[in-house]
Amino acid sequence: MSVRVGFHIVQVYELFSDLRIPVFSASMPLSGWYLTAFLVGTRLMIPDHMQWFVADRFGLFIHWGIYSVAARHEWVQSREKRDTAEYGRYADVFDPDLYDPTAWARDAKAAGMKYAVITSKHHDGFAMWDTATTTFSVMHTPAGRDVLREWVDAFRAEGLKVGFYYSVIDWHHEHYTMDSSHPLRENDWDAFNAGRDFSIYREYMFTQVRELLTNYGTIDVLWFDWTPPEKSADDWNSPALTGMVRELQPNIILNDRIDYPAGADLVTPEEYQAKNWPTRNGERVLWETCQTLNGSWGYDRDNHNWKSPELLIALLIDTVSKGGNLLLNVGPNARGEFQPESRQTLAIIGDWMHVHARSIRGCTASEFDPPADCRYTQRGDRLYLHILNWPLGHIHLPQLAGKIRFARFLHDGSEVHVKDADPAAVAQNIDMPEEAGDGILTIPTVKPGVVIPVIEIMLQENNEE
Ligand code: GLC
Repeated sequence: MSVRVGFHIVQVYELFSDLRIPVFSASMPLSGWYLTAFLVGTRLMIPDHMQWFVADRFGLFIHWGIYSVAARHEWVQSREKRDTAEYGRYADVFDPDLYDPTAWARDAKAAGMKYAVITSKHHDGFAMWDTATTTFSVMHTPAGRDVLREWVDAFRAEGLKVGFYYSVIDWHHEHYTMDSSHPLRENDWDAFNAGRDFSIYREYMFTQVRELLTNYGTIDVLWFDWTPPEKSADDWNSPALTGMVRELQPNIILNDRIDYPAGADLVTPEEYQAKNWPTRNGERVLWETCQTLNGSWGYDRDNHNWKSPELLIALLIDTVSKGGNLLLNVGPNARGEFQPESRQTLAIIGDWMHVHARSIRGCTASEFDPPADCRYTQRGDRLYLHILNWPLGHIHLPQLAGKIRFARFLHDGSEVHVKDADPAAVAQNIDMPEEAGDGILTIPTVKPGVVIPVIEIMLQENNEE
């Protein structure tokens, strides 16, 4: 398969202390649709190890830990200012008897997700795997087994890529020093820090990350979280941490939350809708936005602030139209299940993705400007018009006169009539004005029965700039 693309870019990396730092980029012709497909309309380079990620576009985030027992947000320990002894009660009763990671993986797959990232340790410091570093782990709960291994096995078996979230913040470790995120922040900081040696915590953190990246086979994503204002890359020793991660898992994708942008593969806007494609030093960067279903990452029983499936589908579309990925979160409950509201939302997204995945996967920002209330995504010569707000009768597509070979709805493959604007047409009463350069689609009066309709526009082969 070949596609028309105006330019192609290749990137050259300098290997420096195991870090991949882009030092040079140049335009040159490349063949092969896979790489070039992502470059349409962008000047961004996709490193080899991120090709799958950028193509897949949609993943599942899972926040699961002993905070699921409290069932009032994963920050419950900090919000309620509980010390480790008080909070540790939840470990004594953590017993997810209905835990079935295969069911989770199937829900994710049916929603159109292709990868998943799960909390191995959140800020509370509780380890969800069989670790030699601490007894504050799932091994020392009624569950008594490595639920993370079961998760990895189940998700892989269902064909999903797997990633670990790991919190560098740790409210449990005896050598972790005070910062403004900490549950005991209202106590005397000097007294709290007295006798604490952060380097011991740092060593522990390195050992934990090493376990996670050694004992579970290929890990596709590592999702570090995050650096409070009082801490920095020096505390985590982020260059060395990044070096170790890349040495253990050379193809892993690493996010940007340990205060070390040079070592990161992508940026991670959280819980807001990006206005534009995010940039760093004026250059577009690879990105993944993470979003909750209801404002809480962990299971939050009394929180009913659910984002509608329509809003979430629009968010997915909007994200891809700006060159990004969406990592959508579910917080399973203490018995190990996704609650009905989450499952229902995933199912509705899945119904949409069943017929519309083609406008998401392998797609990115378009070189064309969309009409009002619409978003474009593009993959090679396929331009996808997502109609967020159904208009009356026609859609005028700027710049597209003479460039459209065929147009059809994605949900049923049915033709959508298209013509070039006739600038000589006189606007009068029942005669619609037509603007030179527009392609004009004629659409049914009634919006098709899908949450957000998409028209697939096949561009002419000779559509080179
Ligand atoms: C925030 C929160 C955390 C959550 C994360 C997910 O940084 O501290 O609770 O895990 O976002 O992106």
